[in-house]
Amino acid sequence: MAGINPYIERVEQELPKQKYELTFLPMQIKVVVSPDSIKSDFDGLPGSILNAALEAGIDIDHSCGGVCACSTCHIIVKEGFESCNDATEDEEDMLDLAPGLNPKSRLACQCVPDGSQRIIVEIPEWNRNLVSEDH
Ligand code: FES
Repeated sequence: MAGINPYIERVEQELPKQKYELTFLPMQIKVVVSPDSIKSDFDGLPGSILNAALEAGIDIDHSCGGVCACSTCHIIVKEGFESCNDATEDEEDMLDLAPGLNPKSRLACQCVPDGSQRIIVEIPEWNRNLVSEDH
């Protein structure tokens, strides 16, 4: 179920115009995100890390359904942070509630890479037991 939270600031995002490599740690799962594979019927913003994870069968916890109303989809963008859209104040407010906050923390449902760099994200330890994959 994809949705939009009417109570938050609209997110400025640039969808990727080219393929890019996205790696999830610590599982070392690497996927290639293609502009053609971006779907809007998954939770999270179209083109978001959460969107790409779900498309790849990696079920990152996302209690609010990907509408920036929790912090369960907290990830750390270890590489390619600069190629992601800027976090809104609403996202920053939600991140403040996440344990283990890091300068490169983002909400996976709101973080949209533009495709200009490869991305490596780490799923924090406290969320890992919730992650499942279909591979
Ligand atoms: S899933 Fe709730 S903020 Fe991302």
